[in-house]
Amino acid sequence: MDPRSVIAIDGYASTGKSTLAKMLSKHYQIPFVDSGALYRGITLFALERSFFKNDEIDEYALSKVLESISLKFGFETGELYLNGENISKKIRLPNVSDHVSTIADLTIVRAFLLNQLRHMASENGLVMDGRDIGTVVFPNADYKFFFIARPEIRALRRHEELKAEGQKINFDKVLNNLIHRDQSDVNRKIAPLRKAEDAFEIDTSDVSKDQVFALLLEKIDSK
Ligand code: CDP
Repeated sequence: MDPRSVIAIDGYASTGKSTLAKMLSKHYQIPFVDSGALYRGITLFALERSFFKNDEIDEYALSKVLESISLKFGFETGELYLNGENISKKIRLPNVSDHVSTIADLTIVRAFLLNQLRHMASENGLVMDGRDIGTVVFPNADYKFFFIARPEIRALRRHEELKAEGQKINFDKVLNNLIHRDQSDVNRKIAPLRKAEDAFEIDTSDVSKDQVFALLLEKIDSK
């Protein structure tokens, strides 16, 4: 594979996109960008600045400071920094998951992040995961994948992940959050979640991550 290639992985929440994107990044020695982390970063910023009132976002207040938000991935570690602070752990908290769909719906936020995401691939190749990477961010990506999986399996995996990080949260809450975010992603007016026509769909419900990895390598290397 040409190291200047762009690999796009889209799909539903918690289908294993980031895990597989990291494995591809290591294998092909190209950077990995988790676009969802940036949406989560802006959500955290809005929560910390109290821009949410009764779960409604004050879009005007956010728009005034949006351009001043610096979100940067650490070069080696891939950790996310918001105005210099490492927020990699905070962006996974349930409160961020509960508010991120509202932020991802905002035209100003999508335009701001679209610009940043596109710049990340100006010279080098990369693997990026998200919801609209193969359809909107990089419609000409060299390789496109679309991940799906049954909701219960996804919730189970996310629940295990959160428990391993020491977070106490019940299974139903995790499942409901995933279902809510899916609906919001699919029904959004701008850049909704959908499979690009030329994307290869993978159902990750009943396969291990190594099996998915093998399938991705097979598809990429045979092209
Ligand atoms: O990892 P998980 O599947 O929980 O989601 P994520 O990738 O961290 O993304 C968090 C949220 O950001 C999603 O629920 C989407 O609403 C939004 N998002 C988006 O709108 N467009 C993207 N390219 C990536 C994420």
